[in-house]
Amino acid sequence: MSDEQAQFPFTDTTTALAGALLAWYDLAVLEMPWRGSRDPYRIWLSEVMLQQTRIAAAEPYYTRFLARFPSLAALAAAPLDEVLKCWEGLGYYARARNLHRLAQVLVAEHDSEFPTSAAELQQLPGIGRYTAAAIASIAFGQPVAVLDGNVMRVLARLTDLSDDISETATQAKLWRWAEALLPTERPGDFNQAVMDLGRLVCVPRRPRCQECPWQTHCLALAHQTTTQRPVKKAKAPLPQMTAAVAVIRDHQGRLLLVRRPPEGLLGGLWTLPGGQCNAEESLPDCLRRSVAHQLQIEIEVGAQMTVATQQFTHFQLTLRAFSCQVASGTPQTANSADLAWAALSELDRYSLGKADREVVASLNQWQPRLFEEFD
Ligand code: ADE
Repeated sequence: MSDEQAQFPFTDTTTALAGALLAWYDLAVLEMPWRGSRDPYRIWLSEVMLQQTRIAAAEPYYTRFLARFPSLAALAAAPLDEVLKCWEGLGYYARARNLHRLAQVLVAEHDSEFPTSAAELQQLPGIGRYTAAAIASIAFGQPVAVLDGNVMRVLARLTDLSDDISETATQAKLWRWAEALLPTERPGDFNQAVMDLGRLVCVPRRPRCQECPWQTHCLALAHQTTTQRPVKKAKAPLPQMTAAVAVIRDHQGRLLLVRRPPEGLLGGLWTLPGGQCNAEESLPDCLRRSVAHQLQIEIEVGAQMTVATQQFTHFQLTLRAFSCQVASGTPQTANSADLAWAALSELDRYSLGKADREVVASLNQWQPRLFEEFD
């Protein structure tokens, strides 16, 4: 027996563990709109949505998205703008761009079919190990394990693991242990059951061990270390970033918007013109500089109107919006389709990030004053 196998304390009890968990899963029968489907398109969509979004928040988006894009072909044929619009509010827009791109790849190069093995799925753009395993096991019944934050916590407690789960080596070990636990029968249900267990019973703060189908096996429960597991290095606080944006309106009161480049942060979404501020410049200077670069115009920066915040994976953004006027030039972008003068009544048609949406929503309060200025 290798050291690794020797460390895994459940080699002889995997069948009992799987049986107990699947019995618990069958009793709970949790309703979710994607459960009961074996359509890889639906499974893929649900798994991508659930990567950074809670189940209750994802459900209405999932139903709306499927109604609008009922198949891979429908998604592949849709303009990116519409896909982003359907995603607005879910955040992490790279997920929507990747969905759209992969739908196009599958339609163009794979006869509109998903490959059935996790290894092949993982070769596709935008599909990582977790998503490949989830699709392969849930849609195609392949025996491949998933590991996400919930599953890590469950396994770290079950095995009373004292290693830091933010370390890559620990995660590699947990992937192997997840594979070791996985039954060949009903692997998709087992994977979903462990995730449910982590979300509902083996919760971070006060685990409900009395309700756990693994309570007689759990080493952390036996050693009274559940609240110390998993061991996880504290995260450094997120860096702060400030951006200044310009609220520029024409004589009809329409608002100037620009479309962001397709790749990168909030790629393909519409935004108010502006940009990220350097530590050494004032917000109005930042705004004049970034708008000149973006739109070839000089602006006069007036009063600050509102502040909105948005959290991204690697930083916290504060968006400060200023009322501005064009002082010289006519706004233009390299591609004229990336610039729009949007009536306030039409703003819902544009896909905007959370902070931009907050700023434009607050404009209604300013509207009377702005119209006075224009009259
Ligand atoms: N979290 C992500 N995907 C899930 C699924 N299919 N079931 C339960 N929890 C999940």
